Amino acid sequence: MAILLLEMLGPKIDSWKVNIIATDIDIKALNRAEEGAFTLKQVEGIQPALLKNYFVQENNSFSVKPEVRQLVTFKVHNLAGDPPYQDLDLVICRNVIIYFISTLQSRMLTGFHEGLKKGGFLLLGKAEVLIGEMRRMFECLDIKAKLYRKIAECGM
Ligand SMILES: C[S@@+](CC[C@H](N)C(=O)[O-])C[C@H]1O[C@@H](n2cnc3c(N)ncnc32)[C@H](O)[C@@H]1O
Repeated sequence: MAILLLEMLGPKIDSWKVNIIATDIDIKALNRAEEGAFTLKQVEGIQPALLKNYFVQENNSFSVKPEVRQLVTFKVHNLAGDPPYQDLDLVICRNVIIYFISTLQSRMLTGFHEGLKKGGFLLLGKAEVLIGEMRRMFECLDIKAKLYRKIAECGM
């Protein structure tokens, strides 16, 4: 996400208020992500130009450059219990809710809904869908991409 924004905005990114909050319940997973170091195999799908511009290579390790890293804040967060982050433009949650029973899936989706601004976007994983009341709270923009937009407040 950070690389995409840098690609799209270029130097203009300095006049934008960009804050990407990367969350997980697992501190070890977060620490690994925060390290931002990837093996040759892990980066093999990344376009060579992006690899060159946004990563520093040392032997077989690729580390994200500080300009990418500084756009991201890493936080431990339990989607099933912690209050949602607020005032969000976009929530990307892939391959997480699918592992939970429907009551917890509903709680997580409600949290995404509460956290998003009206008109904010939600991107789910390939196998994930909106359930229950949330089907009326978001409009589907692209079913294949699993991209949704918040259209209503709860209780409306
Ligand atoms: C299958 S991985 C998906 C990782 C990543 N989104 C992806 O698509 O590659 C599921 C992640 O969900 C995290 N997770 C499990 N329960 C969670 C919860 N209650 N709140 C937040 N994250 C949770 C796990 O620690 C794990 O990192």
